[in-house]
Amino acid sequence: MASLVLCLVIFAFCSLHYSLASNNFNQDFDVTWGDGRAKVLNNGKLLTLSLDKVSGSGVKSKKEYLFGRIDMQLKLARGNSAGTVTTYYLSSQGSTHDEIDFEFLGNLSGDPYIVHTNVYTQGKGDKEQQFYLWFDPTADFHTYSILWNPQTIIFYVDATPIRVFKNIKSSGVPYPNNQPMRVYASLWNADDWATRGGLVKTNWSNAPFIASFRNFKDNNACIWEFGKSSCTNSTKSWFSQELDSTSQARLQWVQKNYMVYNYCNDINRFPQGLPLECTFNSTTN
Ligand SMILES: *[C@@H]1O[C@H](CO)[C@@H](O)[C@H](O)[C@H]1NC(C)=O
Ligand SMILES: *[C@@H]1O[C@H](CO)[C@@H](O)[C@H](O)[C@H]1NC(C)=O
Ligand SMILES: *[C@@H]1O[C@H](CO)[C@@H](O)[C@H](O)[C@H]1NC(C)=O
Ligand SMILES: *[C@@H]1O[C@H](CO)[C@@H](O)[C@H](O)[C@H]1NC(C)=O
Repeated sequence: MASLVLCLVIFAFCSLHYSLASNNFNQDFDVTWGDGRAKVLNNGKLLTLSLDKVSGSGVKSKKEYLFGRIDMQLKLARGNSAGTVTTYYLSSQGSTHDEIDFEFLGNLSGDPYIVHTNVYTQGKGDKEQQFYLWFDPTADFHTYSILWNPQTIIFYVDATPIRVFKNIKSSGVPYPNNQPMRVYASLWNADDWATRGGLVKTNWSNAPFIASFRNFKDNNACIWEFGKSSCTNSTKSWFSQELDSTSQARLQWVQKNYMVYNYCNDINRFPQGLPLECTFNSTTN
């Protein structure tokens, strides 16, 4: 009897411990570069990336995923962050890789960050959309999410959709649906293009620049292991998620009021004609 109780207690402790430890940067991520500039703090709950004149820093997830809904909370470098880029994205490997990007382009004190998004399919990007935010992303943590399922990719900021990239593979537009991806985050210097197209350079007297990350969640994403996906879709609400009419209205609000750049409107850039996906629906692509 005593051993049964002990066993139950241990089991309860282990499951509690497991669930508490489930959002732990030490367990979920590897530092990939930066020579000590990527730091995991608070028992794994907080990740900080820093950038100075010598180097930036970055991490990648230990797990690979083929579809998922990934959430991360970010607080961006404050003050004069012009020239810096903070990234948080999904990517597969190789020259024909797929990628789903959030990049945060820094700015002079008081001037707005830009959220730069892109989707790569089969090694080809050129699908940029950029947005301002409706809050100061350096003042507090906000949640940035990537929903990636067989029907659609949706970028969310605090649960508000800002961009949708639908699967219209049947119409000949490549869609990322067969290469597993990892989650990456980094902070680096991109003052050749990031702020006002490269006009504003990084001011190194403000270094180190620091971006913070917390509450990484993969929401029971489909894990890719040993060459196959562990996924069964029945229990995963995100697997069949698409925009409902409320979200559609929010998306239109963002695109009307906060969109800075949309490749689908950039006629000069595509003299041979806009990319095929742009002709489907300019509001939702
Ligand atoms: C920086 O601020 C300027 C001035 O408000 C703005 O034009 C620009 O879009 C902002 N963001 C970036 C990344 O350049
Ligand atoms: C760089 O930042 C420092 C400290 O904020 C400031 O004194 C200096 O004028 C800045 N340099 C430039 C080129 O803006
Ligand atoms: C997901 O589940 C539904 C039924 O719940 C099924 O019709 C569908 O084919 C499944 N999709 C995949 C990709 O397994
Ligand atoms: C695009 O989608 C929006 C929102 O659903 C809709 O109002 C609009 O009519 C669509 N445009 C086209 C060209 O299908």
